[in-house]
Amino acid sequence: MFVTFEGLDGAGKTTQVELLRERLEHEGREVVATREPGGTELGERIRELLLGGVPVAPWAEATLFAASRAQHVAEVIRPALERGAVVLCDRFVDSSLVYQGAARGLGVQAVLELNLRATGSLLPDRTFLLHVPVATAAARLGERLDRIEAGGVALLEQVDAAYHSLAAAHPERIVELDGTLPARELAERIHGALRTLA
Ligand code: TYD
Repeated sequence: MFVTFEGLDGAGKTTQVELLRERLEHEGREVVATREPGGTELGERIRELLLGGVPVAPWAEATLFAASRAQHVAEVIRPALERGAVVLCDRFVDSSLVYQGAARGLGVQAVLELNLRATGSLLPDRTFLLHVPVATAAARLGERLDRIEAGGVALLEQVDAAYHSLAAAHPERIVELDGTLPARELAERIHGALRTLA
């Protein structure tokens, strides 16, 4: 089972990955929790390039995220899925669709095609989109803006709108949840939504 978490930075994805990991391990499942960009040695190096101060053109950005993802799938995600582990990933293809495809204007379809090549068409079984108002996300982020988030509130608004449209287009895969709920309650809903899959 491959489960991903999406949403603006500050939506609580990291906390939910951790709570779900604990719960599934308690049930005796093997869980691999990982994140993008990163998750492998190559990915961590690409992450430094992407989030540091170096200028990166939009298609360079999209292909670097896709390269990191290709390595992540080959080295971590597919092997884990093949041995029956549950894989929880903090961001995956949908992040590229909304940040690069929509917000950077490269086109959601074009970025999807690039990513399907890179991942051998691997898509999550379930994606939890944690929704928080843009103002809340901006406030939670405070000063910790990386190069991408430096696009500011306007970028966050575009990303937020693009996430909504993706969720509306793929209701069978993407479950949208209120990220302002208390963490334990949100964790309960996420766990409940997975029961139908496991
Ligand atoms: P994230 O891992 O959430 O960073 P942090 O360590 O700050 O929580 O993601 C870093 C940034 O990368 C974030 O602004 C979203 C962006 N991003 C993309 O633009 N495209 C992608 O495909 C991914 C995975 C992330």
